[in-house]
Amino acid sequence: MIPQETVDQIMNAAVIEEVVGDYVELKKSGSSMRGLSPFTNEKTPSFYVLPAKGIFKCFSSGKGGSVVTFLMELEKASYPEALRMLARRYNIEVQEKERTPEEIAAASAKEGLANLVGWASKWFMDQMRNTDAGKAIGRSYFVERGFRDDVLDTFLIGYSPDSWDALATAAQEAGYIPEKLVEAGLCKKREDGSLWDFFKGRVMFPIRDVTGRVIGFGGRTLTTDKKVAKYFNSPESALYNKSKVLYGVHLAKPAIVKEERCFLVEGYTDVMAMHQAGVTNVVSSSGTALTTGQIHLVRRFTKNITVIFDGDAAGIRASLRGIDMLLAEGMAVKVVLLPDGDDPDTYAKKVGSDALHLAIHEDAQDFLQFKTKLLSDEAGNDPMKRAEMIRSVVTSIAAIPDAIQRSVYLQSSASQLKMDETVLGTEVAKVLHDQSKAAAKRAAQSSPYGKARGSAAPPSPAGGSGFPGDPGAYGDPGAAPLPDQAPPVGDDLTPAISERAVIENDLIRALLEYATEVVSVTMEGEEGEEPSTLEVPFAELVIHRIEEEGIEIQDPMNQAVVKRFSDELDHERILTADQLAQDQDMGVQQKVAGALVQQHVLSPNWSQRHKIYPVVERDQLMSLLEDSLRRMHLTDLREASREVSSKLEEGGLSVEEERDLLAQKVQLTREIQATLKHFGTVILP
Ligand code: CTP
Ligand code: MN
Repeated sequence: MIPQETVDQIMNAAVIEEVVGDYVELKKSGSSMRGLSPFTNEKTPSFYVLPAKGIFKCFSSGKGGSVVTFLMELEKASYPEALRMLARRYNIEVQEKERTPEEIAAASAKEGLANLVGWASKWFMDQMRNTDAGKAIGRSYFVERGFRDDVLDTFLIGYSPDSWDALATAAQEAGYIPEKLVEAGLCKKREDGSLWDFFKGRVMFPIRDVTGRVIGFGGRTLTTDKKVAKYFNSPESALYNKSKVLYGVHLAKPAIVKEERCFLVEGYTDVMAMHQAGVTNVVSSSGTALTTGQIHLVRRFTKNITVIFDGDAAGIRASLRGIDMLLAEGMAVKVVLLPDGDDPDTYAKKVGSDALHLAIHEDAQDFLQFKTKLLSDEAGNDPMKRAEMIRSVVTSIAAIPDAIQRSVYLQSSASQLKMDETVLGTEVAKVLHDQSKAAAKRAAQSSPYGKARGSAAPPSPAGGSGFPGDPGAYGDPGAAPLPDQAPPVGDDLTPAISERAVIENDLIRALLEYATEVVSVTMEGEEGEEPSTLEVPFAELVIHRIEEEGIEIQDPMNQAVVKRFSDELDHERILTADQLAQDQDMGVQQKVAGALVQQHVLSPNWSQRHKIYPVVERDQLMSLLEDSLRRMHLTDLREASREVSSKLEEGGLSVEEERDLLAQKVQLTREIQATLKHFGTVILP
């Protein structure tokens, strides 16, 4: 824990353009500085630093925030690590301090879950190492399974005592409040309000984010009773987003970078067993299907991934689709198939480290070859099955975003299947063509504002997509577009943004930009009183109106920004965007940095071109606000109406259900029309 005074001292000393300058060559451009993004390999600079505001914004990766955020992102450091790096650079001494229970209690309310979960992980560790039951039950379980103590320590493994309230009691004694214990998923509440320990009697696997912070737990039962779930896992929370976490990633990243490869296994114990055998570039998806968020996490460190399959055919077949996702994200995928009945844990312990190393390196096969062989063997000579198999292989090839790589795979799969390459190529081209058509259609349906914002690049029309309809072109890699020029089609890094999101973002941007601008509001007088005019800061009005209209802000970061303003308003303070740019939440920083840089870097350009833009916007804050609220309301109503319609279309409804839905539909249509009237137009929905 770094004392607040030291944090302030560090933040005052740190000069963002100096720190960024260690990594990026910055050139002055107006009041800002510009350079090539260190997060992507762009060719034209779209990375900005605003020295006066102490922020950076990278338009090619979307990252942005304070100097601390910059280090956290670039060095993959945690918040305190980044602070310590700055302290070193500016020769500031950091004296860590022990916290008193009062301070812990105060912080627990403020810093919330992270403290609690970190504390709990230490408590579980202590239980396993320093209590009789912990040693006799928890630790000996791992010893029996052959895990070494240093591995248990590396993974912060712990034990949750077999008591209903050991953790609940200890946590509350340490100053943590029951609500947080429930929110973190560590305890559940009984009807009478008392708490019980959710992970009671289990061995505990802390789950950590990429910076090493504990954010959740997996807890394994020690009974062999099949009716008891083997693992319990922490619920999603503000801290723990399952779809973006990989077990072991924090420990794996140096080795992943060094070896230029990441191994993917299924379970917690598999990761640990591989570590014990000396393979540390390994992560686990924790038994669930891979998500794009998880793939992006790996891709930050390497494009090469080897998936280790436990060898049962059904399981492998089920995983094939997940692997197409890896291909679609531009990963180069290999697979290792372990003998039937073994997972990496049992296999490593059976054959020893050397044989494991050999198996995962030497026996790794290219995924597409593996898949083609697997399906081809399965299909045998059955023509229907073969057709299906070819379709499946074609889908995988079409998923590969890089045209050159695609053509390489096309060649090898064709020869493996003893098929004519042009025939297979035609099939791939068909899939690509359908995909680019679908993408163009999606873009056409999305907001009319989307294009002007520059956030979602409009996809090229199918003809110019770079995916030649002519299958002959596949045999000739020279004709394929280079990866850098690859079209945005099928690249869901910048998904088409919905109309609702565009309106919301625009309102939040205005809120950030004009928070302290004073606007006049006319208040209707109480009975018999004159209407009065009130001068309020724009932020106050925005928050008030959002709450009054019951508008639900959808984007979590927009939500967080609104909440910050609203919390400060409760203390009669108006936040400024500059303050928010240093917010603890990196997502919030990113949001704010985006808005500020737009204002400082982009809008001067706009105003030069359009002369009047910012002035006009300032004068029109009131209408901008009201317009946004109404449009959000309208998109919400339309969404609801669409849902009702699709339920009606699905059919299979009882008479009452159908009547209810029709009544809802009529009501929604009325509301939509009423809202549309405010815009001065009557459009038939
Ligand atoms: N898993 C889960 N909930 C379950 C079962 C499994 O969350 N009820 C997840 C866990 O992340 C687990 C992974 O799926 O690590 C793989 O499951 P499994 O192979 O059954 O567990 P192992 O990790 O092999 O655990 P062990 O070796 O202790 O049996
Ligand atoms: Mn296992």
